[in-house]
Formats: sequence, C-alpha cells, structure tokens
Amino acid sequence: MDKVIIFDTTLRDGEQAAGGSLNLKEKLEIARQLDKLGVDVIEAGFPISSPGDFEAVSLIAKEIRRPIICGLARAKPEDVDRAWEAVKGAAHPRIHVFVSSSDIHLMHGMKKSRDEVLQMAHDMVARAKGYTEDIEFSPMDASRTEPAYLYQILEAAIDAGATTVNIPDTVGYSIPDEFGRLIEGIFQNVPNIGRAVVSVHCHNDLGLAVANSLEAIKRGARQVECTINGIGERAGNASLEEIVMTLKTRSDLFNVKTDIETRQIYKTSRLVSELTGFSVQPNKAIVGANAFRHESGIHQDGVIKMPITFEIIDPKTVGIPASSLVLGKLSGRHALRERLAELGYSLNDEDFNRVFRAFKELADKKKEVTDRDIESLVAEEQRTVSEVYHLDRIQVSCGDRGIPTASVVLIGPDGQAYADAALGTGPVDAAFKAIDKIVKVPNTLTEFSIKSITEGIDAIGEVLVRIESDDIVYTGRGADTDIIVASAKAYMNALNRLLTAKRETSK
Ligand code: KIV
Ligand code: ZN
Repeated sequence: MDKVIIFDTTLRDGEQAAGGSLNLKEKLEIARQLDKLGVDVIEAGFPISSPGDFEAVSLIAKEIRRPIICGLARAKPEDVDRAWEAVKGAAHPRIHVFVSSSDIHLMHGMKKSRDEVLQMAHDMVARAKGYTEDIEFSPMDASRTEPAYLYQILEAAIDAGATTVNIPDTVGYSIPDEFGRLIEGIFQNVPNIGRAVVSVHCHNDLGLAVANSLEAIKRGARQVECTINGIGERAGNASLEEIVMTLKTRSDLFNVKTDIETRQIYKTSRLVSELTGFSVQPNKAIVGANAFRHESGIHQDGVIKMPITFEIIDPKTVGIPASSLVLGKLSGRHALRERLAELGYSLNDEDFNRVFRAFKELADKKKEVTDRDIESLVAEEQRTVSEVYHLDRIQVSCGDRGIPTASVVLIGPDGQAYADAALGTGPVDAAFKAIDKIVKVPNTLTEFSIKSITEGIDAIGEVLVRIESDDIVYTGRGADTDIIVASAKAYMNALNRLLTAKRETSK
C-alpha cells in the first residue's frame, strides 16, 4: 500500500482562525500530542509573522525530534531566511515557500506579472534549497489559477529544488471531480513531477475540504494538509481525523495507508478544542459528542446485538473509551488513575493529586462523575498551571431586589493576596469588574457563552470567554458546578493568556 503523508497545519493555518491564538506553552503541548498522534509533518508556524511565531517554531524544532518540522515563508528573501533560522534546530527541517499564482491574486493583490511571480517562485525555492534539502512549494489559490501557468510554476519550483509541491484550494472553491481533474492534469503536464511529492491543502468554504482532499488522493496526491477538528481560516481546513478515518475505514476503495495512531485522535481533538477555545460541534464526524451515540431504539437494539449494524467505526479505534465504569464519591485513587489512563492521560503525582482532590470535591456534589467531568477536571487543573494571577476566592450576591455585588481575592505574581469588590449589572459583570480592579489590563469582552457539559441539574457548567486587547483575541475557559465561579475562572484564564502573551512579546 502507498503511504499518504499527513501534514498537520493546526499550529499554522489552524491557529490563523479568528480568535484561536495559542501561547508558546500551548503550542508546544499540541506539538507533543501531534507527535504522539504520528503525524509526518508539523507546520509549526509562520516565523516571520511575529516574534511569538518565530519562538514557537524554534522551540518545537528543538523539542520534537521525530516528525518533520516545517516553517512557512512567503517568496521573499527575508521570509525564507527567517523560516530557516526557526527550523534549523530540527532533526528534520522543512521550509515551505508560497506565492500566489492566480490572476485574481496577481492583479488585485500582488500587482505583479506572471513572469515576475514565476521568477520569484524559482529564486526563493532555490534560496531555501541553499539551506536544506526538504523544500515545499505552494502556488496560492492554485485551484483558480490557469492550469497552463500552474504547470509552468510547478515545473520551475521543482527545477529549483522543491521536493513537495502543494496544491491549495485556498478559498475552498473547488468541487471534488474538478479538483481531482486538476491533480490529474498536474501529473500529466508537469514534466518533472516525478521528482516531487504532490500534496493538497483544501479549505472548507463550501464544506468540501475533506471530499476534495480524498479525491486528490484517489488521483495520486500523496501528502494531505489538514488540521485537528478542521480548524483554520474562515470555514477551516480539511479535518485530519475525517481524512484519516475515511482512508482507514474505506481502505477497500483507497488502498493507501497513513502512520496515524488513531487511538490518539480523540485526545488530540479534546486538547486542541480546549486550548484554542473552539468547541467541537456535537454532530462532528469522528470526534463530536454524538458521533457514536445512538438515540433511536432500533439503532440501539442493533448495536447491542452486533455493533456493526449501525456503527462503521469502533469508538475505541479513535480513542473513545468504552464507559463501563461510572465513578462516584466512593471511588478511590486507584479507580481514578485507571479511568484517567483509559482516557489517555498520564499525570505526574503532583498533577494527579490535584485532580484527585478536585474529583473528591465534585463527587460530593454530584452523584455520578462521568468521563466528560473527568476531562473537564483535568483541563481545569491544567489551566491553573503557570498562571500570572490565580483566583483564590469569589463571593457574589445577586437577586431581583439587590444590586449585584462581587468580592474577589486573587493571588498575584508576587505571591501576595489582593482583594477587591465591585457592583455590576449582574453577578458576572460584578465579578469581572472586581477582577479588573486588581489585574488592571484594558480589554473588551467580545464573547461569553455557557454550557453544561453533561446532563442533569448538578452538571458542571463550562464557560468560554473571549476578550480583545490591541486587536488580538484571547480565549479563556473555566468549569465549575457554580456557573458564576466558572465565569470568573474563564475570565481569569483569558486574562492570564493576555498577560503571558504581553510578557512574551516584551522579552
Ligand atoms: O490556503 C493556502 O493557500 C495556504 C498556503 C499558505 C498554503 O494556507
Ligand atoms: Zn490555507
């Protein structure tokens, strides 16, 4: 079987999604998990775009040794040089050079002729090749580029040393048969195509990113660019989990393999959702909360008798554990450790002890502690690691007669306790204002949402907030059985990210 190279761009195109910004530590955590997932290439960022991106790519290049670590560069000398600076510490570095190729982009964006762009592509691939062997070239907006010119620019890039040529459907405009024919045309009309791997990079504006990618694989593409949960610019990129599981489930049709450790898919999906703040829709294929839930009686009956009747994938294949055991207040350390291991977590003793304490507190309030509760507890504990300010206590009074009032105690970066109080239009407003009096970072709240993570009146409430400061959006999450506490935790989480980012950029 031929192998399809899985090129993950969650940390580059995925992070480009509005509101999805990640800090250095979070990027490294995701890169570690992508390594466990078995992706072949991690596109770790766009080094020239910001000092933070440069630092993240350099760090990932140094720390993550198995996969290829790729840095993105426009076809400009300073971009290529900066990308090389960032990836040069990698065991397997790659520079990814891109330039627009469609007339629409050339005329309205770049204001350059086709000949000029062809020369830029050639020269910048050659420059990158002077640094390292593994070079990828992308003609941006390839699917709206005149095919004859596309063939020419690909030929020039391969001549200059590109070892992978990537065909982006940048604006998600193609439909599968059309995109497949484009790939076929490339194989037939680019004379030196045998010297490069053909890759595809599809966006999801018409909901066709996965279908287009799969069609391209059928027609000979052997690298596919994708993101976890399909996050990315606008409507996102092709989803890694959907592509990988289609290739696996329908290997009878595709006859290709990937090296993805599919049992890590669910864990990776949860981590990316948690750190980016992008929730996974319940009906999302493979990783949505309902993806393996059977509501209809006929389906349930069938699955009990023989899962294959209504289940095309065994949930365990993607790392969703069979929930045979429900934990409660009588469950001990051993049971929690086992459940955590089944959910894919291996915590050190200190982290485990904190999660265990939180679990006991929750089990006192809630009859049954489910897998989602446990995931939420772990996420909550991880959020409090390396905080700048920590929410120590909060007290709120509200109702239809009184003025909502909140008092908070925060532990500051110097280890001191800071207390303050505020009035608000409601309890959340009062809590946020009290926190603001201590933290004092100007920002605008752009989103606030709350949901219960399991059924039942005793469920944990999970709050997501997004705040904006200097045109950058920071996401925060918090979970608690008390929704006001959850809201305050989420706000603190967003503020801590903002403060950390400001510290990183002022270094
Ligand atoms: O969508 C796109 O065209 C891109 C390129 C940089 C590959 O992300
Ligand atoms: Zn893209």
